[in-house]
Amino acid sequence: MLNKFHSQLHNHMRFFSAFLKYPRIIGSVAPSSSFLTNEMFKFVNWHKTNTIVELGAGTGVFTERINTCKSSQCTAMIFEFDNHLRGNLQDRFKELFFYSNAKLLMTTLKQNNISSVDVIISGLPFTNFSNQETSEILYNVHQTLRSGGLFVAFQYYPTIYTQLNQVFNQVTMSHIKLNFPPAFVYTCYK
Ligand SMILES: C[S@@+](CC[C@H](N)C(=O)[O-])C[C@H]1O[C@@H](n2cnc3c(N)ncnc32)[C@H](O)[C@@H]1O
Repeated sequence: MLNKFHSQLHNHMRFFSAFLKYPRIIGSVAPSSSFLTNEMFKFVNWHKTNTIVELGAGTGVFTERINTCKSSQCTAMIFEFDNHLRGNLQDRFKELFFYSNAKLLMTTLKQNNISSVDVIISGLPFTNFSNQETSEILYNVHQTLRSGGLFVAFQYYPTIYTQLNQVFNQVTMSHIKLNFPPAFVYTCYK
């Protein structure tokens, strides 16, 4: 119990110091809550998930859920831009595969001979990206998801809804108040 508290406190400090260094890229002052994490994974069918991708892992709250719930045959590919945060995740989750830039999603999958992905979970701070950067990443996401595949993203503002609607067949939005700051969760199907 005390160990868990210490490691959570450590992760909060690590996250906040990354935010102080690169506020635009990190995009938040604290890791996501367990309430937001539950909502992000609500529709993931772990039995049917052979490949899962996480974009913008931070200190690993979603990564931890992936590591716990995925089947042993499922490949998990985790993208985190910050070298220090990524290095720490690599030390903690030895069976997952780590990469830097979410913009290289398509290229990375090709290099690993993976033709499509079942689920993509995103913590990327799209609000801080230019329209072009967001479009580029959403194009990568859409191209790599299998037909009927699931994309789940959260944001602190409801601004990305229109862009997601242009790309995906079905988009629904929910609001999680028990998070700092409160967040909108977008669940999208290709
Ligand atoms: C708001 S934090 C979310 C972290 C974590 N998923 C959570 O919910 O607590 C966004 C994360 O996305 C990462 N990030 C930003 N741009 C990225 C990119 N182009 N590729 C990969 N990661 C990126 C940041 O370094 C940061 O760790």
